[in-house]
Parts: sequence; C-alpha cells; structure tokens
Amino acid sequence: MQQNLLIASLVATLLGVLVALVFARRMAQPIEAISEAAGRLAQGDLSARAPVPRGEDEVARLARNFNHMAASLERLEAERKAMIADIAHELRTPLTVMQGRLEAIQDGVMPLEMAEVDRLHHQTQLLSRLVEDLRTLSLADAGRLNLVLRELDLAEHVRRLAHTFQAALEAKRIELELRLPAQPILVQADADRLAQVVTNLMTNALAHTPAGGRIVLEVAAQAAHAVLRIRDSGPGIPEEALGRVFDRFYRAEASRSRSTGGSGLGLAIVKALVELHGGWVGARNHPEGGALFELCLPFTPAKAL
Ligand SMILES: Nc1ncnc2c1ncn2[C@@H]1O[C@H](COP(=O)(O)OP(=O)(O)OP(=O)(O)O)[C@@H](O)[C@H]1O
Ligand SMILES: [Mg+2]
Repeated sequence: MQQNLLIASLVATLLGVLVALVFARRMAQPIEAISEAAGRLAQGDLSARAPVPRGEDEVARLARNFNHMAASLERLEAERKAMIADIAHELRTPLTVMQGRLEAIQDGVMPLEMAEVDRLHHQTQLLSRLVEDLRTLSLADAGRLNLVLRELDLAEHVRRLAHTFQAALEAKRIELELRLPAQPILVQADADRLAQVVTNLMTNALAHTPAGGRIVLEVAAQAAHAVLRIRDSGPGIPEEALGRVFDRFYRAEASRSRSTGGSGLGLAIVKALVELHGGWVGARNHPEGGALFELCLPFTPAKAL
C-alpha cells in the first residue's frame, strides 16, 4: 500500500516536471525567436523581424516593440544612405562643370577669359554654400549649433534686412510690400541666424515670383507669438509637395531648381533654426495664389540652448 503511494507520488511529480518543462519551452520559444532576430539585427541584417505570438501578453508586446525598433532602424539607415547619395550628387555637379571648363582651357579649346573665371568662381561659391549648409544642418543635428540669443525687435530686424534684397527685387521688377507694426515686436533670437531664415525664405520667394510680381513681408504679434509671413505672387507650391518642402534635398521641380543652383537645403535650414529658437514654421498656398510661409517665435525667452 505504502509502495503504491510512493509510486503514485513519483508519477505525479514526474508529470508535474514534464508539464512544467513543456510550458517553459512554450514560453522560451518566442523569446528565443526574438533573441535570434536581435542577433541578426546586431550582425547588420536590418530586415530581421521577430514572429509575433498571438495574444496580448508581455512576450507579444516585446516582439512587437522589437519589430518597431527594427523598422525604425531600417528606415533611418535608408535615409542615411539616400542623404549620402544626395550629398555626393550635389557636390559632383559643380565639380564636373569646373573640371570640364578647366580642361577645355588647358587644351586650348576655350580661351582663358575673365568671364570664364567668373563662371568658375560662381561654381566654387555654389560648392562653398552647399558645404556651409550641410555643416549648419549637421551641427543642428548634433545639438551643437549654439545660438547667440539676445532681445531684438523683429520688425526692425526685418526692415533692415529688406534693404539687402533691393538689387534683386529691382532686377526682376518685383515690388516688396512691408507690413510692419509701429510698436516693437520683441523676441529672444540670434540676429545672424534669424537673418539666415529670412534670407532663405526671401530667396525662394524671389526665385519663384515672375518678373513684375509682388512679395509681401509681414511681421505681427499674435497671442504669445511673434509671427513673420512671407507671401509671393508665384505659382505656389504643388499640393503634393506641401508636406515635403522642409525635407533635406527636396525640390518640387528638380530640374528647374537645379539649373538655378538650389540644393533643396534652404527650407530644411529654416526649419532647424526656427525650431532651435523654440518656434515653428509652416508652408501653405494663399487662397488668392502664391506660396505663403509663416513662422512663429515665442515672445518669452527660448529654452536654454
Ligand atoms: N516661394 C515658393 N514658391 C514655390 N515653391 C517653393 C517656394 N519656396 C520653396 N519652394 C519649393 O520648395 C523646394 C525646397 O525649397 P528650398 O529652399 O529648401 O530648396 P531650394 O530653394 O531648391 O534650394 P536651396 O534653398 O538649397 O538653394 C524648392 O525647390 C521649391 O520647389
Ligand atoms: Mg531655397
């Protein structure tokens, strides 16, 4: 009798261990699959994904989060590669032009004239600007673009900046309407970086406004913000491009912009600089035509930078 009891308890214990083993294995399998996918990811296979078990338990959540992380890494890597390809492409264009012209001069096909030197100089300026733009963006990315903040009157700043566009405006017979308030609009800002923002927006407006057109530059106070608006009488931004114009290297009309020397970095810089100031910038089309860029800067001091 006692022996039977012993055997029964032994069998029960064995069964228990067996059941526990089966359960443990069941639990471990999906975790092992996640671990295996993590190993592949670490080896550089960014397409590695873990199978997501059914249900809503911790392991399913872990697998789902792992897959989200892997997808983000894959997207970032694709963006990084595209960015390098874009940079290489943008650097190559002026370099190829310069090399071709210099070789033609060396071979005696083209005379060494001052006009040619000017054209070559223009290409070096394009290259310098491109490199400077890339530097600004990479400093902003790394959080190392330090603003020299001081209190300034946005209206007065814009009034002074407007003079620098006089020649370009006259060359295209474009009228600039300044709508500036009489009272000062005080913001905490880096004067040079703010000038860069306005210059990039004005350069775009000038490039897209046909001869004889008009640009309206407006500064206003709105709730807790200083607002700056630039509206032109150009064709506006194609609807499908509105969400992308602030992306790096994005050009709505690639061929036309390239011929005018644009790299598609101007608005990316505008966005980075405005956000560093604690503000935001947006683009839309005016109901009566033309592109309208609007940026807001907080009246209160920007966050410590
Ligand atoms: N005022 C505007 N009217 C119409 N389209 C515009 C205007 N401003 C910008 N865009 C569109 O947005 C794109 C991106 O502008 P962005 O300033 O970033 O680049 P870019 O002017 O082409 O080159 P970069 O400024 O680097 O010289 C432009 O190529 C153009 O297609
Ligand atoms: Mg531009």
